[in-house]
Amino acid sequence: MTRSPSTEPRLADVRVITPISIVVPTFRERENLPELVAGLDELRARYGLTLELLIMDDDSRDGSEAWVQEHAPDWVRLVVRRETRGLSPAVVDGLRLAKHPVLVVMDADLSHPPSAIPAMILALESGQDFVIGSRYVRGGSTDDDWGFFRWLNSRVATLLARPFTDAKDPMAGFFALRRTDFDRAFSLDPIGYKVGLELIVKCRLGNVGEVPIHFSDRIHGESKLTFKEQLNYLRHLGRLFAHRYATWSQFTQFALVGLSGVFVNLGVVTLLLVLGAQATAALAGGILVSIVSNFLLNRSFTFARARATGIFTQFLRFCMASSVAATLQFGVAASLLAVLPELLPQLAALVGVGAGMIVNFLVNRFFVFKQEHPVRSNPPRD
Ligand code: GDD
Ligand code: MN
Repeated sequence: MTRSPSTEPRLADVRVITPISIVVPTFRERENLPELVAGLDELRARYGLTLELLIMDDDSRDGSEAWVQEHAPDWVRLVVRRETRGLSPAVVDGLRLAKHPVLVVMDADLSHPPSAIPAMILALESGQDFVIGSRYVRGGSTDDDWGFFRWLNSRVATLLARPFTDAKDPMAGFFALRRTDFDRAFSLDPIGYKVGLELIVKCRLGNVGEVPIHFSDRIHGESKLTFKEQLNYLRHLGRLFAHRYATWSQFTQFALVGLSGVFVNLGVVTLLLVLGAQATAALAGGILVSIVSNFLLNRSFTFARARATGIFTQFLRFCMASSVAATLQFGVAASLLAVLPELLPQLAALVGVGAGMIVNFLVNRFFVFKQEHPVRSNPPRD
């Protein structure tokens, strides 16, 4: 194998030899473990590293556990996971257990060359926050037999991650970060395969670096990346959007609920009139029902996480907020007309609606559906 100089820093270049925790998620990787451990051991000896390897195994029952017990050196530990299964949760659990200040995540199937790790650590030490072992930067490559569809798939997935990062290979399962940055993560809730992307977004890691690697195809065992995982990726992207653009996405939902209220209102008025109600009663009924439906929709969707206050208190506050907003809406429209008598009254009303809606949203967001402080997702280790 030829070694590219960029992924092989000389020993003299590694200034600080920081202890490293390597987290490897596994499911049925028994055949790959010996070579993985041997590769890391070579690296350890060569650079005099202090290593810890955490193999996060989803109860494979393929002899992995026995192999580690009998053959692995003492810096290797296999953790059997039986509760939440899946690649991303396994990685997050491993990162929480890790005891060293530098964290590296890689696959078990020898796709990720351990020889790139020193360069990744150097990049972290020179100030980058998240360093990817990357297939798609200059000098990086994949085995030649990637079919067109696998290639296209990977490229489309990368493109979809563009709103969150400019990295060329944000999908990679090979990356390094600092423990202090990981500990800052709020509300980690990873699904699927793209745990690196989750960390970039939730730990707010702006300064992402990439070190070129050659990604080799696995020889033993098979890939677990199924179609279901591709769908999971779309769900994951949705959650990341909601997280990063939380206020905008809430405002949009709030506006949509408001719009739905208009239809509920008109529907109820029509229904009551058909049933023979008087016009005033029908109007009042429309308003009442739409207030309740707006409240319930906002409570279940827009502000679903705000459950600290009881539903009746919330409803009372919601009515208060609506009346404050309505008063303001009237005030803004009326004063606008007073100042500019030439103005089309409908236009003044529209400006009033806008002002009322923004204030209504803010009062709802910060008073009616107030949330407790977000819970830190990484409880400190003991
Ligand atoms: N604990 C656990 N639980 N580990 C799992 C699970 C699971 O449910 N599924 C997969 N793994 C482990 C595998 O044993 C392997 O060590 C690693 O996660 C990657 O799984 P593969 O099945 O080999 O994935 P891949 O090669 O198709 O995908 C890799 O490359 C992608 C980019 O092309 C991964 O690194 C992906 O994260 C990456 O996006
Ligand atoms: Mn693989």
